[in-house]
Amino acid sequence: MTTKMTPKQHLEEVLASYDQCADPRLVQIMTSLTTHLFAFIEETGLTRQEWMAGIEFLTATGKKCDDERQEFILLSDVLGVSMLVEMVNQRTTDSATEPTVLGPFYRPGGPELAMGDSIAPENSGGQRLTFAGTVRNAEGSPLEGAHLEVWQTSPEGFYDVQDPSLDPMSYRGNFTTGPDGRFNFGTIRPVDYQIPTDGPVGDLLRASARESWRPAHTHFLVTCSGYKTLITHLFDASSRHLHSDAVFGVRETLEVNMDHEVASFDLVLDLAEENK
Ligand SMILES: [Fe+2]
Repeated sequence: MTTKMTPKQHLEEVLASYDQCADPRLVQIMTSLTTHLFAFIEETGLTRQEWMAGIEFLTATGKKCDDERQEFILLSDVLGVSMLVEMVNQRTTDSATEPTVLGPFYRPGGPELAMGDSIAPENSGGQRLTFAGTVRNAEGSPLEGAHLEVWQTSPEGFYDVQDPSLDPMSYRGNFTTGPDGRFNFGTIRPVDYQIPTDGPVGDLLRASARESWRPAHTHFLVTCSGYKTLITHLFDASSRHLHSDAVFGVRETLEVNMDHEVASFDLVLDLAEENK
């Protein structure tokens, strides 16, 4: 007598289809992804209509992407996934700077500037602010040759790629530390801003009665030979959105007093795995 196939047998059949794959990491990822996806569908009793709504949502997310707009990273951010990936990838020691999300507005190739230069255009409004500190290791030794990429919004809360009135690469700049590991650069005090809500991610936030604000911050991506890359933000400690960040990126250790002319913060890097 024949019997109907069960979801468990169906899962086993799908997982077995990877048996000939020569890439063990791909097998591990696809096995885990498939198993969790199957569990999600069974647990929720996903309807055909809901499955199709999901397909249409992902299709719309893809169509919203172009050279300037990355709706999939934004989706990953608001799902909390980007932050979790950072947490899993950068298990910080007690003294290393906490990481946070890269976000959808990072652009490589920012202008290489000298220490003390400003990333803000001369005629920008906003409150002038200087970031200053030392890039160092967990033992406190300054790191020479650390490369900092920094970026943030204009005083109106838009990145250069969002606002046609801004010159490309406005509010972006790269700096390289000397033997003392010190950095300092000018900018304007960052402001709270709303993530883009004119796409599928905005629809999701509205349907879920969720916030679209991010607390004021400046992004840092720090690389240094022999050390783990640090991707983080410094948040304005007086932002009113610190506890309702749309992408769950705030960490208490990254809150900085920006009430004065100089905001001070040391960036502490972990040794790369191969150097531990
Ligand atoms: Fe940002």
